[in-house]
Amino acid sequence: MSAKNSYTPKQFNLSGLNGISDETLEMHFKLYEGYVKETNNLTEKISKFLEDGKVDQEEMPAYSELTRRMGFEYNGMVLHEYYFGNMKKDGSGDADKTSAFRKAAEATFGSYDIWKADFVGVGKMRGVGWAICYQNPANNRLSNHWITLHETGNVSGFNPVLVMDVWEHAFLLDYKPAERPKYIEAFFSNIDWNACEERIKSSGTGRSVTA
Ligand SMILES: [Fe+2]
Repeated sequence: MSAKNSYTPKQFNLSGLNGISDETLEMHFKLYEGYVKETNNLTEKISKFLEDGKVDQEEMPAYSELTRRMGFEYNGMVLHEYYFGNMKKDGSGDADKTSAFRKAAEATFGSYDIWKADFVGVGKMRGVGWAICYQNPANNRLSNHWITLHETGNVSGFNPVLVMDVWEHAFLLDYKPAERPKYIEAFFSNIDWNACEERIKSSGTGRSVTA
């Protein structure tokens, strides 16, 4: 695989977050880099099967297994970029009262607080995964979803606006496993709402997603 077809890990300057230690972040960046590396590895391995222009029947079991793993590695890479990208030092806690995000939350859920109760509730669900607030680009509605592992539950064509990692590795150096609510509280204090606002604004319109 040529270099131009491979992904390189993005850099995030998040030192000094509130309630999420630099040690956690360093470890988490390494995990993220692992997803980037595996995405590249799998892409290269799969491309080998395709060198002769077809997938032979005897290659199908190995080809299928590698292709299924792509969903895990690709989403692991991309979701971590959204997650790190929606935090910053000295975050503002809650979305600004005049923001497009708050307006979308109010329009969909009735109030920002109800949206937040739902998002936090999703984040507290038992299991390994993510809480993600998506925007439907066709009608601007927001919806919060539980994503199992990295790949199960993402809504095709929807725009991830706020992404929260609730795998235990995201907080285990700072909190006990049962203290996930404290981590979620810390996460909220670090949200970069400007980044979320950009995601809403850059989502565009006219895409063929169900209204
Ligand atoms: Fe993670």
